[in-house]
Amino acid sequence: MKIVLYPDPVLRRGTKAVDDTSPWKERAREMFDLMYETQGVGLAAPQVGISEAVLVLNPTGDKEKPEEELVLVNPRIVSRKGKEWGQEGCLSFPGIWGDVQRALKIVVHAIDLDGQPTEFVAEDFLARVIQHEMDHLNGVVFIDRFSPADKIRTRNQIEELEDRWRSQHASR
Ligand code: CO
Repeated sequence: MKIVLYPDPVLRRGTKAVDDTSPWKERAREMFDLMYETQGVGLAAPQVGISEAVLVLNPTGDKEKPEEELVLVNPRIVSRKGKEWGQEGCLSFPGIWGDVQRALKIVVHAIDLDGQPTEFVAEDFLARVIQHEMDHLNGVVFIDRFSPADKIRTRNQIEELEDRWRSQHASR
């Protein structure tokens, strides 16, 4: 398992719902390991090349705090309140940061790795991470939500990622 970088098409493909969570117990563990190795706070299945609706996160980014880990399968946001701009990065866009507007408070419905339904309220940074990762499940990436100023500011960096990806995937 490794992290897929932009503009790999799997990041735009969207995902299908998970019927059987059993293969995800091991995969979610691998995703957490990869996320900690790369200093992330969240990772969505398309970012490891799998087009299924699963995301993992730990808002502390600290592997010594496994009690903060969350795995969401087939997540849905059932309500949202407030809006706030805040800076985000993404493991599929190394070195790129920009401001994204997200809801401040959300209610999330999902199933866990045992297939049990769960519903909870998330606020502030946790809500931001969930919204960022849920976008990945729908083929949306954070640069899509940048302000026009941030789109211009990061244009060269994004083009560099595109050039690098093309040269690594050139057909010969
Ligand atoms: Co991301």
